Amino acid sequence: MHIKSLSLNNFRNFSSQKINFKQDLIIFVGQNGSGKTNILEAIWYLSIPRSFRVKRDHYLIKWGEAYARLSGLIEDQDACKEVVAFLECGGDKTCVFPKDGRGKVKKELKVNNAKVRAIDLLGEFITVLFTPEDINLITAPPQKRRQYLDMILCQTDTKYCHHLMDYKRVLAQRNKLLVSIQKNLTHESSLDVWDERLIELGLSIIKKRQEVFKFFEQDVRIAYQRLSSSKENLSLLYLPRINADREKFEATVISNRQRDIMRGRTGTGPHRDDFVFLLDSKQVSQCGSRGECRSAILAMKEAELSYIEEITHRKPVLLLDDVFSELDDKRQQELLGLTKGRQTFVTTTGLGDILETLADKHQTFEIKDGQIV
Ligand SMILES: Nc1ncnc2c1ncn2[C@@H]1O[C@H](COP(=O)(O)OP(=O)(O)OP(=O)(O)O)[C@@H](O)[C@H]1O
Ligand SMILES: [Mg+2]
Repeated sequence: MHIKSLSLNNFRNFSSQKINFKQDLIIFVGQNGSGKTNILEAIWYLSIPRSFRVKRDHYLIKWGEAYARLSGLIEDQDACKEVVAFLECGGDKTCVFPKDGRGKVKKELKVNNAKVRAIDLLGEFITVLFTPEDINLITAPPQKRRQYLDMILCQTDTKYCHHLMDYKRVLAQRNKLLVSIQKNLTHESSLDVWDERLIELGLSIIKKRQEVFKFFEQDVRIAYQRLSSSKENLSLLYLPRINADREKFEATVISNRQRDIMRGRTGTGPHRDDFVFLLDSKQVSQCGSRGECRSAILAMKEAELSYIEEITHRKPVLLLDDVFSELDDKRQQELLGLTKGRQTFVTTTGLGDILETLADKHQTFEIKDGQIV
């Protein structure tokens, strides 16, 4: 997959910018705060229409403006399609500091001029992002790891994404009901139908997650061995919060019912899943050095790439946000190896030794205050 051009209007600190991409390796150089990550965020948004930095779309619209428009020309298996995202401030145009429930941003997505829902956009254009924050994934709260996992799965399996959204809806509904039962406003038996749905969807989510970890097993181990001089084996251990066996799942939901009612929320299920990084049997989050964490994350990214390519039969576009400076020479070389044969966007504040050696093979754009100069 390739993105041939990108147009930005009122996106973050860009007023109006069109960029044509002619090489496979594209580098954005600029000082801190110039707008490099904003460009990667825009490219990412055309593949997964939500920011990887902020929860609300408000922040993506240029301050003081009422709308933002992004468009990209995507080349996928010899065909070209135009993907467009249009964001418009609603209500009182308080786009920058939205108050809850006010000034909702209207989002319109189009592929080749036909409106699509966010969920239908997934898979149209596939990106893999690597940022310095990813290195913190090992020690981050479980929610971040779940988000990461769901992002991979949603880009590769629409059914999973539908099930995940339905699961979240059922969960919210069940939690509401638990509160209502706690207050004696609703009878406990009204949970039956929601429990059934929760189990059905929950099982399918866990099974898919198990599949990915099975796939990752070999890849992360081999990649880690290449990256590190240690003899230890890296593995990612999936920790589902509930047993994927239907009967055991049902039994847990039933036995936890009274506790859930007391607490007013559902305590077990894939919404509480997690996974850990292990070096042999040691948890990297507890014992890993910074360098080991970096290697582990890089190994995981490699596994992510192979998984996506195996499932979709496409080469995703790589977005590397300022990660070279985080890595030593050996890991920089490994990362550069990943860019081969894949369109890659790199941001950096300065062209280091490695990137300079590629001078004739890449396209470099200098960014200053939200403009390509
Ligand atoms: N909605 C917005 N409207 C206008 N400017 C914005 C908006 N959101 C962010 N900015 C500005 O965009 C600028 C650039 O952000 P960006 O994160 O892309 O910088 P960067 O080049 O990646 O910097 P660094 O090297 O520090 O990572 C920031 O100065 C920020 O204030
Ligand atoms: Mg940045």
